[in-house]
Amino acid sequence: MNAATNSELPVGIFDSGVGGLTVLHAIREAMPGEHLVYLGDTARLPYGTKSPLSIERYATQAAAKLRERGIKLLVVACNTASAVALDALREQLAPMPVVGVVEPGAAAAVQGRTGGSHLVLATEATVRLGAYRSAILSLDPDAEVTEHACELLVALAEEGWVDGAIARGIVRRYLDESHAASPDTIILGCTHFPLLADTIREVAGDQVRIVDSAGTTAAVVRATMDAAGTRRASDDPGTLRLLATDGARRFARVGGRFLGQDLRHEDVELVDL
Ligand code: DGL
Repeated sequence: MNAATNSELPVGIFDSGVGGLTVLHAIREAMPGEHLVYLGDTARLPYGTKSPLSIERYATQAAAKLRERGIKLLVVACNTASAVALDALREQLAPMPVVGVVEPGAAAAVQGRTGGSHLVLATEATVRLGAYRSAILSLDPDAEVTEHACELLVALAEEGWVDGAIARGIVRRYLDESHAASPDTIILGCTHFPLLADTIREVAGDQVRIVDSAGTTAAVVRATMDAAGTRRASDDPGTLRLLATDGARRFARVGGRFLGQDLRHEDVELVDL
């Protein structure tokens, strides 16, 4: 396939559920002309508490579905799947480029500084693999990195309980239990946590920098397509297709909050992996 034909294909974006819509939002803001197809594996969410073997199997099945639909690049808009399965996905889809969210998130945290102290909030699986620690230390060997699993924050974000006393109490307990001594950066290492950013800031204090990977991932996607000559040439707005493995109504209701735009369940196509 030549670059001109390829450029009309959509960018594929995959997450365990609706959380990756925060990344889709950033990609659409950065490149409004690109066609996008998003697959949320809502039938098997959460990935964060599953074993690496299951997560890799789920992720490769989702990638196969998107490849079958025809995509020019895959964004793994799920920290857990990026931490566990990025190498397997790259091998599976080669030579198609595959962009994960962990490395861009680490780059957003380090931003060319050295000796930073970072607290990574993520799922159990991401923390178990130390994916952010490795990515941050490869950019800044002098950094201090604490990683802490915060599974309940996924449920809070899905439920829309992102502020108020309950959300603050849970965030406070996680931050206390992390034993991170005054980090200068908190990294939201899970797609759901940007929805809780204000509450995390309230609890952690204004002196802490809170970063997520959405913006830097969009920049990597753009640079990757520029290098391959596969950016869509037209200025017309790109199309958006939404696929899910279960629960179109819930996907539309909860996903709308992550995307920052109302979604209709009729626009969510259910697929089997
Ligand atoms: N998308 C996942 C992540 O970013 C969070 C939800 C899950 O555990 O599947 O790690």
